Amino acid sequence: MAKAKEQKELTVSDLPGVGPSTAEKLAAAGIDTLLAVAVASLGNLVTESGVSESVARKMIQAARDMMDMGFETADTILEKRQNVSKIKTGSETFDEVMGGGFETGAITECYGEFGSGKTQVGHQLAVNVQKPIDQGGYESKVIYIDTENTFRPERILQMAKKAGLDGDQTLKNIKIARAYNSDHQMLLAEKAEDLLKTGEYKLLIVDSLTAHFRAEFIGRGTLSERQQKLNKHMHTLLKIADMYNCCVMVTNQVMAKPNVMFGDPTQAIGGHVVGHSSTFRIYLRKGKKGSRVAKLVDSPNLPENECMMFVTEGGLSDKDE
Ligand code: GTP
Ligand code: MG
Repeated sequence: MAKAKEQKELTVSDLPGVGPSTAEKLAAAGIDTLLAVAVASLGNLVTESGVSESVARKMIQAARDMMDMGFETADTILEKRQNVSKIKTGSETFDEVMGGGFETGAITECYGEFGSGKTQVGHQLAVNVQKPIDQGGYESKVIYIDTENTFRPERILQMAKKAGLDGDQTLKNIKIARAYNSDHQMLLAEKAEDLLKTGEYKLLIVDSLTAHFRAEFIGRGTLSERQQKLNKHMHTLLKIADMYNCCVMVTNQVMAKPNVMFGDPTQAIGGHVVGHSSTFRIYLRKGKKGSRVAKLVDSPNLPENECMMFVTEGGLSDKDE
C-alpha cells in the first residue's frame, strides 16, 4: 500500500534529465505519466522531448525502476475476478451466451454490419447498468462516446420505461460526448478517467470504435499509422476496464473480405489490434423474421456459441413483442 502511494506521488518531472521544459514537451505529446515514459520507444522519446538518446535511455530505465511493471500475484487477480459484475442484456439467451451478461473489467467488442443492432445493444446496456444489482444492473452511471451521432435519448426513455426506471433520472445518469475525429475520440477516452475516478461509472461505451479511424486513414500507406493510433486507444480502454472495474463496450463495423469463398465473407475492422485487446467479441447479424443473431466469437471462458434475440420497442428481448 505504501508503495502504491509512493508511486502516485512520483511524476515525469522526477525522472533524471527532465526539467520543466522537457516535462512540458512530453506532456504535450501525451507522455505525461511514468508508465507512458516506461513503455515509450527510445526514438519517440527523443523526437518528442528533444533530449539526447542517452538521456532518453536513462529516463526510460528510471521510469521502469520507479514503477511496479505490472506483475500481480494470482490471489490479487482472483480478488479482482470476484469484483466482476455482469450486466444483463434483457435477452436471457444473449446473457447465457455471454456467461451471465456483459462483464465489468473487460472490453467487449460488438461488430457487425449496419443495422445489425450494435447501437441498440449499447443503448440497452446504458439503461440496464443503472438497475439495482439484484435485477442484473450495477446501480451505475454511464459514459457514452458517440462518434456517429446515433445516440438517441428518446430510445433510452423507451427502454427505461420498460425497465421500470425513472426516465428523467436515467437520462441524467448518462454522460455523452460527441467525438469529432479520432484524436478527439482518444482524448475523450483519456478524459473519461476523471469521471471514472468518482467510482460512479461502471460502463463506458464507444460507438463506433473504428469509424473515424477508418474514414481518416485511407490507402495502404496510412495503415500502420492507423493501427498504431488504434492500439494506443485500445490500451487506454484496457486500462480503464482494468483499473476501474469498468465494463467497456465498443462497436465495430465489418468490411468485405475480397477473396473468401467459404464461410462468412466479412471481417471486423482494426484487425489484430482490436481483436486481441477485446476480451469478448460478439458478431451481430440480422436473422430470420426480424431477429438478431449474436455469436460469441472470442472469449476466455466459453466455447463458441450463438443465440437469437429481438430488438423490440422496449429494447432487447427473447421474444418479438
Ligand atoms: P450501424 O451503426 O449503422 O452500423 O448499425 P447498428 O449495428 O448500430 O444498428 P442499430 O443498433 O442502429 O440497429 C438499427 C436497427 O434496430 C433498425 O434497423 C431497427 O430494426 C432496430 N431498431 C432501432 N430502433 C428501434 C426501435 O425503437 N424499436 C424497434 N423495434 N426496433 C428498433
Ligand atoms: Mg450504430
